[in-house]
Amino acid sequence: MAFAVLAAVGAALAVVVYTYVAGLRKNIAKARKTGFVYIVSPVSPYNLVWQLSFFIWVPLIKLLPRSLWDNWLFVVLPEWGYATKQEHFRRLGTETFVVASPGDLILFTEHAGLIHQLTQRREIFPKDVSVYGVLEMFGRNVLTTEGALWRLHRKVTSASFNEKNAAHTFAEAIGQTRGLLGRWFGADGERAGTTGTIKTLEHDTMRWALNIIGYVGFGLRLLWPGQTMPDDVDPKLAKYGSLEPPPGHTLTFADSVELTLQRIVAILIFNETLLGLLPFRFAKEAYKAKRNFLKYMDEFLKDKMEEAKRGGEPRDGMDIMGQLVRSKYSEKMARAEGKISGGGGSSSSSSTGFQLTDAEIVGNAFIMIVAGHETTANTLHFALLELANNPAAQRCLQRDVDGLFGGADPSAWDYERSIGPLLASHVGACINETLRLMPPVTGIPKVVTHDTDQTANVDGRAHVMPAGLKCTILAVSAHRNPRWWPTRPSGRSGSETDLDDFLPERWFRQAPGGEAPSKEDDDGIVDRGDYGGFQGSDVSAALFRPVRGSYLPFSDGPRSCLGRRIAMVEMAAALAVIFQRYSVELAVDEWASDAAVEAMGPEERRALYGKAQAKSRDVISKADSILTLKLHHGLYVPVRFVKRGCERFVSDPLLQ
Ligand code: HEM
Ligand SMILES: *[C@@H]1O[C@H](CO)[C@@H](O)[C@H](O)[C@H]1NC(C)=O
Ligand SMILES: *[C@@H]1O[C@H](CO)[C@@H](O)[C@H](O)[C@H]1NC(C)=O
Repeated sequence: MAFAVLAAVGAALAVVVYTYVAGLRKNIAKARKTGFVYIVSPVSPYNLVWQLSFFIWVPLIKLLPRSLWDNWLFVVLPEWGYATKQEHFRRLGTETFVVASPGDLILFTEHAGLIHQLTQRREIFPKDVSVYGVLEMFGRNVLTTEGALWRLHRKVTSASFNEKNAAHTFAEAIGQTRGLLGRWFGADGERAGTTGTIKTLEHDTMRWALNIIGYVGFGLRLLWPGQTMPDDVDPKLAKYGSLEPPPGHTLTFADSVELTLQRIVAILIFNETLLGLLPFRFAKEAYKAKRNFLKYMDEFLKDKMEEAKRGGEPRDGMDIMGQLVRSKYSEKMARAEGKISGGGGSSSSSSTGFQLTDAEIVGNAFIMIVAGHETTANTLHFALLELANNPAAQRCLQRDVDGLFGGADPSAWDYERSIGPLLASHVGACINETLRLMPPVTGIPKVVTHDTDQTANVDGRAHVMPAGLKCTILAVSAHRNPRWWPTRPSGRSGSETDLDDFLPERWFRQAPGGEAPSKEDDDGIVDRGDYGGFQGSDVSAALFRPVRGSYLPFSDGPRSCLGRRIAMVEMAAALAVIFQRYSVELAVDEWASDAAVEAMGPEERRALYGKAQAKSRDVISKADSILTLKLHHGLYVPVRFVKRGCERFVSDPLLQ
């Protein structure tokens, strides 16, 4: 008996080892065939079990001789591209390498030319949607699908991303930014010229962005504490903005969104029944968040269905939910009336080729809320921190805002007249520079079509791209690659390049003679299809324009971000409103009391601020991604906003 058990265990083990070794050998052979530099890793960086438990194994692995792990361990650590900057590309002497592991074959690249091919040639390098499962939990959607289904989703969702709604976003962002400032300053702060120390910048910017997308995208008025619901709000919609959970709910709408995002990993891993039963706080929160969010969405969907049935007029703003529902409802009507013929039946459990299911509608609404708020919020958060870290850049930005708007009240700012100049000023440059250093999406997943091998030309050499090869475009690395970015020695760190420094002024430098950006556009692979969304550029000819494929905070090509324009508009409006009247400074409470600062001369203050800058940069360097790149694990940088003229530090022209 004991022998039989032993033999069975032994056999099972042998099968596991055999599968493991055979998988690894097969992938090594394929990696060799690509002609790229490759490394061998005993575990796939995409292995979910590893991702959830790496912190247990890494210290153990590091007890082994360094030569056993030095080569590969970095690539299975989370967010290594951001954490290690150019280090590993430099060490491997390459801009592209392949990782062969037992489970996966993965290519990582920061090469602009290769990235350009990966983003433009969607037919052979589609999006690797397998990594987006977590964003599909409420239903398939425009971000998580490919092929014909994606085209349908893209068509239905892109309709409302137009300039009219960008203008609407501009006005709403101005209002919400004032709400945010009002919250920070309160009545007393305004008098004293300063807010107290703010430790909740990331949370506050998240709420700011959610309020904007809630209203512009869905017509939902979300409030700041202390605000009351305007009278003209449709009572059906008022409950979404309520600061207390409305009847039938245990969370407010905003809290249900926020908590769903915070607990998204738990929601993905455990099924709902299990979540409801597990005795842990994270499980209870996850369960509550998901139930509440789904209930809000169901009610919203039903309301919109009725509105569509009544043939109601489209609402102001993007009305994304209404748009989704109408696309379904009106096509159903049309088919019933015989205007649409043939095609798949009108089964309601799956997409038929011309209409979305209810789950897909909710899935798309969810993705617009997620994609439309966390990314924008993080970018504003980091932009504010970097402006506090870099007083000289903040002063340039204020000079430009003053030049554009003077003392004009923001509610009178005209979108059409101001948006171009605003994006071409230090405001635009500051957003670009934040997105260069801290792109919310650090790696963009593609995959080589599963049926045939493909080739890609890199620096004049043809490389085999084996079928099924996963390709991760490391935006965060390409953005710091000295081959594609003009650079100078860093005045700050003394390092060879200034590409790790926050320097908005680089966007006003002229491109070097060498690589002409336009050359890339002529190679015949640019996909000029119309996939909806904003077609124009934020370009001003006089500004630095990165080589194509070297700068992709919003990705590029057919699968690029649908919300690029409104995100840029939102962030630009916020920065202009804030810096027209205020400055941001790092808080120094950790080192000196207000009275002590008061007593300090300029030199002493500079030294003090230097400590805060060093600490802040260190915290920012610890950002990592769960959904997007941000400060997790309770990390934060404390700041204060002050009325212009009341600065303690950043107005000092000698402070860089
Ligand atoms: C700073 C803000 C933003 C950044 C950095 C950003 C970045 C990105 C990136 C990199 C992608 C491509 C993802 C991939 O291929 O895997 C993407 C896709 C997308 N984004 Fe954004 N985004 C931002 C704001 C927004 C906003 C405000 C919205 C909507 C309101 C939005 C909606 C979308 C949608 C719908 C897609 C999927 C498009 C498709 O696959 O066809 N994004 N975004
Ligand atoms: C969760 O899993 C259990 C057991 O596998 C199953 O009975 C239950 O229906 C599942 N619940 C949901 C909501 O999928
Ligand atoms: C920001 O980047 C975009 C995209 O590359 C570019 O078109 C625009 O001119 C840049 N803005 C500034 C102010 O340099």
